[in-house]
Amino acid sequence: NARYLADYQPYPFILSHTALDFTLVPDATIVRATLSLAPRDAATGVDLVLDGGKDVQLLRLTINGAEADPAHVTRDDEALTIAAAALPSGPFTLETEVQIDPSANTAFEGLYISGGMFCTQCEAEGFRHITFCPDRPDVMATFDVTIHSDKPVLLSNGNPVSQTEGHAEWHDPWPKPAYLFALVAGDLVAISDSFTTLSGRNVALNVWVRPGDEDRAGFAMESLIKSMKWDEDVYGREYDLDVFNIVAVDDFNMGAMENKGLNIFNSKLVLASPETATDLDYERIEGVIAHEYFHNWTGNRITCRDWFQLCLKEGLTVFRDQQFTSDMRSAAVKRIEDVRTLRARQFREDQGPLAHPPRPDHYEEINNFYTATVYEKGAEVIGMLKRLVGDDGYRAALDLYFDRHDGDAATIEDWLKVFEDATGRDLAQFKRWYTDAGTPRLTMREDWAEGTAGGTLTLTFTQETPPTPGQSDKQPRVIPIAVGLIGPNGDEVAPTRVLEMTETEQSFAFDNLGARPVVSALRGFSAPVVLDRQIDDPTRAFLLAHDTDPFARWEAGRDLALSALVALSQGQPGGDDYIDAIGRLIADQDADPAFRALCLALPGEEEVATRLYDLGATPDPDAIHAAREGLARRVAEAHQDLLSEIYDRMVVSGSYSPDAEAAAKRSLRIAALQLLNRIDNGERAEILFGIAGNMTERMAALACLIARGRGQTALQVLEEEFGDNRLVMDKWFTVQPMAAPPADAAAIAAKLAKLPGFDWKNPNRFRALIGGLTANHAGFHAADGAGYDFVADWLMKMDKVNPQIAARMSTAFETWPRYDETRRAKALAALEQIAAIEGLSRNTREMVSRMIAAG
Ligand code: ARG
Ligand code: ZN
Repeated sequence: NARYLADYQPYPFILSHTALDFTLVPDATIVRATLSLAPRDAATGVDLVLDGGKDVQLLRLTINGAEADPAHVTRDDEALTIAAAALPSGPFTLETEVQIDPSANTAFEGLYISGGMFCTQCEAEGFRHITFCPDRPDVMATFDVTIHSDKPVLLSNGNPVSQTEGHAEWHDPWPKPAYLFALVAGDLVAISDSFTTLSGRNVALNVWVRPGDEDRAGFAMESLIKSMKWDEDVYGREYDLDVFNIVAVDDFNMGAMENKGLNIFNSKLVLASPETATDLDYERIEGVIAHEYFHNWTGNRITCRDWFQLCLKEGLTVFRDQQFTSDMRSAAVKRIEDVRTLRARQFREDQGPLAHPPRPDHYEEINNFYTATVYEKGAEVIGMLKRLVGDDGYRAALDLYFDRHDGDAATIEDWLKVFEDATGRDLAQFKRWYTDAGTPRLTMREDWAEGTAGGTLTLTFTQETPPTPGQSDKQPRVIPIAVGLIGPNGDEVAPTRVLEMTETEQSFAFDNLGARPVVSALRGFSAPVVLDRQIDDPTRAFLLAHDTDPFARWEAGRDLALSALVALSQGQPGGDDYIDAIGRLIADQDADPAFRALCLALPGEEEVATRLYDLGATPDPDAIHAAREGLARRVAEAHQDLLSEIYDRMVVSGSYSPDAEAAAKRSLRIAALQLLNRIDNGERAEILFGIAGNMTERMAALACLIARGRGQTALQVLEEEFGDNRLVMDKWFTVQPMAAPPADAAAIAAKLAKLPGFDWKNPNRFRALIGGLTANHAGFHAADGAGYDFVADWLMKMDKVNPQIAARMSTAFETWPRYDETRRAKALAALEQIAAIEGLSRNTREMVSRMIAAG
């Protein structure tokens, strides 16, 4: 029962206006909906099908005020159908009255209760759990919402119309699909500010939180104001309502949601103070506040025709939030971080059983497609497009996009067409990036000819994309390959040039070089591909020392580390070149601290496993863990003095600020600490945990202590200090299985799961513990299967309560085919056990069966 892109049909009715009236009662909320409808084609009578889940109980239905004849109304688990015979041939009003039970809504989809507050999550198909409606993104209407409730704060989309005790009315003048509807009712307090737009509209801004959390909402507000300004400056996009509300809720399935004028956020992406949030938390808050705000244009004013087009709004909005963060912080660091996440999450997805294109052509459960491929690869594809058409072409295309499609529910075809029209470029081949799954493998060969044209270097590339589920045959794609050349003395002899590869095999020549240069390839990670080149460790070390492109420079260091770890994990010698090169980098006082920190952090264990798998070997998690620990210790021993000097010097004085510069110093200090921790038995970490005034350093110190088996006291201290702070306690649950020695990880997780504080129905707490274990590579993949069994047991339990979370977390298993026979058998058994559950949700069933199919 999959749905197919090819089956798209417009909705046969036009919905111009939706009026909703809520009487909020936790277990018996009444929703009255008035839909202003008209047949799209008056000549042909078709049935009216309204989506509505089993949990929506129909009390009354009228058409133009008259009670509908029950003979014309049929109800199944997913919809309400009104026979054509019962419908007027022209415009009509359909009214329904339904009853729902928000207090029983543990799936957190539709209207539910979190910490005593009513709130909603409708994307993708949550509105159908609130009332009957055409719940699809191409059906857009203006909304009037009335809320009756004794809660003091009553919010919905659009502009406020009236607010009296127990009653509020909202009007949203911008037509929107049901997935952008939102309602919040609770005992909330706001921190408020205002913003004047380019054209002089004064917008009231509020960040709503629970009483007591006000002092942790300021950074979110600052981030919002920066985002509004940036979107005006860079994209010419202005806000379009009189108010912008953000609400923080504790129970939320994802990060945040861009409901028109009423963004709802997971509280972990709003609340921050130096004592409770890390630098990374601050950076994510800034980025996600921006992301949701940017959706107002890329998502809301222009939405998606159907959910196959999800990356139209998500890829673009991620791309925009990445640009924003690069402008607010360090562009080089942001790029490296983004590539790291892309590889860790998207490449992993693209190279396993769950691979799908940025624009999938079928799905069973759309919630399973809010993936790294749709989001992050969707953003990479736009980055490539921008590189190909240039900055001016990109700007012209975007202006045309906003102009031409404002108010539309658009498609990827529409998107590509604006680029073609604005730049004159044919994008037929480029479109494969949207329709084809899989990560292309790019091979680079170098040929050097001394005498010819003053020394010619010819680069020959070949591309090949391995088959993915359902797509065996892959055509070549357009790949922008940014290349620069570094001369033998370390100077750049050819600045960045973007080679445009369109064939399966293609050569590019560089003349008049004199001496043979070293190639700096795939600068800025100009395309999401795996690059395979013949390069030795001394050349990598040379690039790490001299490359002028920060990404390529970092990449050279990473390759050096990976090459060492691959060798070491296979029982071969390795690491000397890496240790030397890294020593020179640590000593280089001029290098940006954030950059040095990124280079100092060894690749993670799963990254090493991936490299081994790429090379055709079977990764052994225990051997990888041992290799990485061993190499870290050698680095620490070799550079002990330099590292402790950094550790002592990178102290940020004065009061805490989450800005990029201060965060960079802390990150370098922590990178040094993590290495030294291997040889000082946790001495520094223990002191730091005791004296640090910020959560960034305290959490880093705590992880170091746990890794050394000395975390108990610090964990107790943290619990005493922050036992009532959910967000800090989430970290407390995560760090224990994550930082533990792998052999103990599953047992630690099992022990934590028995604590009364393991409020597992809360998505953040569940993700904290289960995700903490799965982040411990050798721990989750323990040979005895304890990690697999623990996670599988919890997925089965969670599936009955919250299928979205269970299905999402099941991706822990997506790499199972890479490992040895013993592990494969155990992982497959765990997956099969889940699949055998009666009444398993559509969400989890789809995920698990796709993963099993890879066996
Ligand atoms: N549109 C939201 C965002 O990216 C995420 C919604 C996720 N919804 C879901 N069902 N997974 O900002
Ligand atoms: Zn988004």
